[in-house]
Amino acid sequence: MSDKTTIGVGMIGYAFMGRVHSQAWRSVSAFFDLPLVPRMAVLGGRSKESTEAAAAQLGWADVETDWRELIRRDDVQIVDICTPGDSHAEIAVAALQAGKHVICEKPLANTVEEAEAMVRAAQAAPSSVKSMVAFNYRRVPAIALARRYVEEGRIGEVRHVRAAYLQDWIVDPEFPLVWRLQKDKAGAGALGDIGSHIVDAAQFITGQRLVGVSALTETFIKERPVAAASAGLAATGTGEMGPVTVDDAALFIGRLSGGGLASFEATRFAYGRKNAMRIEINGSLGSLAFDFEAMNELWFSSGGGGFERILVTEPDHPYVGAWWPPGHGLGYEHTFTHEINDFLEAIATGADPSPSFADGLRVQRVLEAVERSAAEGSRYMNVED
Ligand SMILES: NC(=O)c1ccc[n+]([C@@H]2O[C@H](COP(=O)([O-])OP(=O)(O)OC[C@H]3O[C@@H](n4cnc5c(N)ncnc54)[C@H](O)[C@@H]3O)[C@@H](O)[C@H]2O)c1
Repeated sequence: MSDKTTIGVGMIGYAFMGRVHSQAWRSVSAFFDLPLVPRMAVLGGRSKESTEAAAAQLGWADVETDWRELIRRDDVQIVDICTPGDSHAEIAVAALQAGKHVICEKPLANTVEEAEAMVRAAQAAPSSVKSMVAFNYRRVPAIALARRYVEEGRIGEVRHVRAAYLQDWIVDPEFPLVWRLQKDKAGAGALGDIGSHIVDAAQFITGQRLVGVSALTETFIKERPVAAASAGLAATGTGEMGPVTVDDAALFIGRLSGGGLASFEATRFAYGRKNAMRIEINGSLGSLAFDFEAMNELWFSSGGGGFERILVTEPDHPYVGAWWPPGHGLGYEHTFTHEINDFLEAIATGADPSPSFADGLRVQRVLEAVERSAAEGSRYMNVED
């Protein structure tokens, strides 16, 4: 029998992210030695029948069909938000005000104003109440290793960041108008959904902020069949058409606080690219390169002689020691287990989790500057502090 303290979790939303987070809550204490063991107490949904079916499949003890009830429960100490962006702020602020720890999917919110309200609620909460935004790519071992290399000075002064996040799941004009293509639900299109990840990764790996941007955005397909049903990146449509109200693609350049130059491309129109989250960093002494489609590899150049491939599966690589022997790679889901591990550790030790809501707000400010720039003929916009 374990003498470890358990902590109750209530998770809202159970489709794509909800399933991935459930996997992380289920497995984290089997692989990481944590002082706190999560108890999957309550799953939040809207329809009782389908929430109960999801809870039974994913391993949750009970259900609620109103997130306000979930937050109120005494057996919930952590609220995990896996809903689209239009409900993040309302749920997170209410949960923090109720004294619950909050982990919230990215992007933090749909607008800077909402993100600011979330940061205010996080700051107003007692210091023992923790909050974190779920930029899981920071927890890819190869990306965490890239951060370590930059910190150790192995690539010197950062001169360039070249980041792209490329997918192709909406190339077909008949693909339905899912919530990700509606501004009131998603806030932004490719920019907010996947552009936010590469902005966070660039700032995380370099340890610098993006201070200004110049941008182009485009919506290639202006109307799509209204969605009948959707989950994650899959959907079925109806005969009716509706307008796409977000960007399909966003391209922007930017300046880093250390003086380096950065470029970003976020699109769901790159045929053949499924989840190509790519980042290359060139410094005064060397370079680093990563592509999520080969997520167990980091490429390193120490200057001259091209790149060497590092297979990021050694026990001394970030997070890897908890898993399998060298060469037995990790997958997408592990990044979420790492994220949940780090969040539980912060709650247990009293440390501030990273990325914080303030980090999420900073990404939101970059997204907003990109939208302002694109709306004003690509004019260079400072990112507000
Ligand atoms: N970290 C990542 O890599 C990553 C990947 C995909 C999505 N996301 C983020 O996760 C969030 C959810 O995306 P998804 O792909 O899981 O979406 P999804 O459409 O697959 O699932 C959304 C879920 O939220 C539920 N929901 C919506 N409104 C609700 C409400 N008011 N109350 C209760 N439940 C509600 C839906 O029923 C569904 O279960 C978004 O913020 C998205 O940007 C992050």
